[in-house]
Amino acid sequence: MQSNKINAAITAVGMYVPEKVLDNHYFEKIVETNDEWIKARTGIKERRIIENGATSDLAFRAAEDLFKTTTVKPEEIDLIIVATVTPDMFFPSTACLVQSKIGADKAWGFDISAACSGFLFGLDAAARFVESGVYKKVLLIGADKMSAITDYTDRNTCILFGDGASAVLIEPADDKTTGYIDSILRIDGSGKDALNMKAGGSLNPATYETIDKKWHYIYQDGKAVFKVAVKGMADVSVEIMEKNNLKSEEIAYLVPHQANLRIIDATAERMGISKDKVMINIDRYGNTTAATIPLCLTEYYRAGKIKKGDKLILAAFGAGYTWGASYLIWSID
Ligand code: COA
Repeated sequence: MQSNKINAAITAVGMYVPEKVLDNHYFEKIVETNDEWIKARTGIKERRIIENGATSDLAFRAAEDLFKTTTVKPEEIDLIIVATVTPDMFFPSTACLVQSKIGADKAWGFDISAACSGFLFGLDAAARFVESGVYKKVLLIGADKMSAITDYTDRNTCILFGDGASAVLIEPADDKTTGYIDSILRIDGSGKDALNMKAGGSLNPATYETIDKKWHYIYQDGKAVFKVAVKGMADVSVEIMEKNNLKSEEIAYLVPHQANLRIIDATAERMGISKDKVMINIDRYGNTTAATIPLCLTEYYRAGKIKKGDKLILAAFGAGYTWGASYLIWSID
């Protein structure tokens, strides 16, 4: 008997990265660091920075790129979800700003604040909305202008981040053997002291003092986060494989959040996945927070490296702490 269950699937992708490139040598001039250290400790060679514009502009360009590839029109979108930790402003949400920029006249929407796990959390929400049958076309965008909250005098963090955005369209899958299958998602607020932006919210509203203390920039205890990120991302990735009886040789790609190549390598090793089956863009874009995973998906798809039916594991770890892994079967020909 044919199941009536609706399977949600990614049916179109789009991306935008700014033109301006900051390579590692640029940072040698502004802080005490060097290209070799950055490449060896993080895997990053360069990152993109937006010169004019905000996160909604990055998101808009990614959506515009997506709409060039599908017959679906902005006015048909039911719901817009933007995953970001760098919204243009506290309110309105970036989803509202994107709605008016693309002319999605029938849509409602909201932002998700889950840092580097934002795209995974957004994907799960989008898929469940579609599976419910209530919504048919959800636009999910991972977008961050990390340069807006980066302290370019702090060598511990400034070398890590870049700006970018990527959009996916989620619709009911035509073919029920493909689409969004499963996820394991977690949060743990005890991570708040290791990775945060302290000021600007209701706890520490902006004052001269918060500015003097540089509390409007990213703070990260890199060593502490590194340890929990390696364990957290690898644990859920292995758990989702076991839960779905997936052997490593069946997985076409691991699509990891791009914070540090060493965290990615450790996760792949625990899953028994070889390096050629791990999507990477950290070398060219650094950590673009909510955008890293959909940027990987868009670039690998456009390069012809993923095909319909491929089994993918998406995995992320970020501020919160937030982390998780998702299993999907690629749906676009
Ligand atoms: N250039 C040169 N040296 C640097 C440097 C830089 N850009 N940044 C830090 N260092 C120094 C440190 O000051 C430290 O010096 P010390 O031993 O004299 O104090 C030394 O390098 C080693 O620092 P450490 O923190 O041990 O480096 P690391 O190997 O942990 O790498 C990170 C630092 C930030 C790259 C790494 O910790 C990391 O990736 N953390 C997790 C990131 C993450 O997953 N975040 C979650 C999502 S955003």
